Amino acid sequence: MTSYKELGLVNTKDLFKKAVSGGYALPAYNFNNMEQMQAIIQACVETKSPVILQVSAGAREYANQNLLKNMARGAVEYAHELGYDIPIVLHLDHGGSFEICRDCIETGFSSVMIDGSHLPYDENVALTKKVCEFAHSQKDYVTVEGELGVLAGVEDDVSAEHSHYTQPSEVIDFVGKTKVDSLAISIGTSHGRAKFKPEQCTRNADGILIPPPLRFDILEEVEKKIPGFPIVLHGSSSVPIEYVHMIEKYGGKLTDSVGIPEEQLRKAAKSAVCKINIDSDGRLAMTALIRKVFTEKPDEFDPRKYLGPARDELKKLYAHKNQNVLGSAGQA
Ligand code: G3H
Ligand code: 13P
Ligand code: ZN
Repeated sequence: MTSYKELGLVNTKDLFKKAVSGGYALPAYNFNNMEQMQAIIQACVETKSPVILQVSAGAREYANQNLLKNMARGAVEYAHELGYDIPIVLHLDHGGSFEICRDCIETGFSSVMIDGSHLPYDENVALTKKVCEFAHSQKDYVTVEGELGVLAGVEDDVSAEHSHYTQPSEVIDFVGKTKVDSLAISIGTSHGRAKFKPEQCTRNADGILIPPPLRFDILEEVEKKIPGFPIVLHGSSSVPIEYVHMIEKYGGKLTDSVGIPEEQLRKAAKSAVCKINIDSDGRLAMTALIRKVFTEKPDEFDPRKYLGPARDELKKLYAHKNQNVLGSAGQA
């Protein structure tokens, strides 16, 4: 049994309170390897931003949960060494069962998501409540994120063909019965690099897909029902067209890529949305730079020579998000 405090980590409680009242959102960046973690910490230290390091089921399988936990401990020391101590949360992304959440809580995670969004309402309530009771009764309070409404797209253990928007009429009951610390809602975002079907979009003069707007009316309804309660947005990558073009220029193929425009995320971050999940954009940045090196330097075979430029680009991307989209820069 390891408490996150022994690792130098914090839960989301105070961070969310400050973010909601301050009108900004915390970045929740997924990581699976050292280069991603280095880029996240470098960017967040440089911009003085608190950060949520997210571990998905896929990451646990790929990299080993214990190794990732120790990388988060290392991240605390790394930030210190870089010259500025930022608050760091280690969060389980899309926890698929009570057992997975318990395992993460007992090994040092400071925050977990229990994703019962695909279950019938009453089962989602029961499962989320069970995780909250366990997480909140720890010596050091672990925060829990629940989800109402279903995002389209494929996640590790949770996949859905179609999204179902969150029903604002359910949120008071859900939050009251489960005692969750934050609530992920569905207002039109989805996971991955192709967030909308082309037929849901329009095209600009250059043929680039322009997505339909997020359902801010649903967000406003939710905020009216549970004023000041921390709201989370998943599937919030912007899918920068520059990276898509770069990947395609260097031999990739990413047909019909479309993300959430930064302008809409900026607007969301000013509301009760206090955590914005971003994974796909990092994947795109890394892939674009690695493809560039492979194409331009076919004789290169030292992984540091292609992972290094990818890491530099990732850092730039994260710093940009903290500064220009989420508003978390300067809040650590
Ligand atoms: O929510 C989904 C995240 O993008 C994690 O993806 O399970 O492939 O690591 P992953
Ligand atoms: P993206 O696929 O839009 O980056 O979403 C990531 C996410 O929601 C992780 O939980
Ligand atoms: Zn997600």
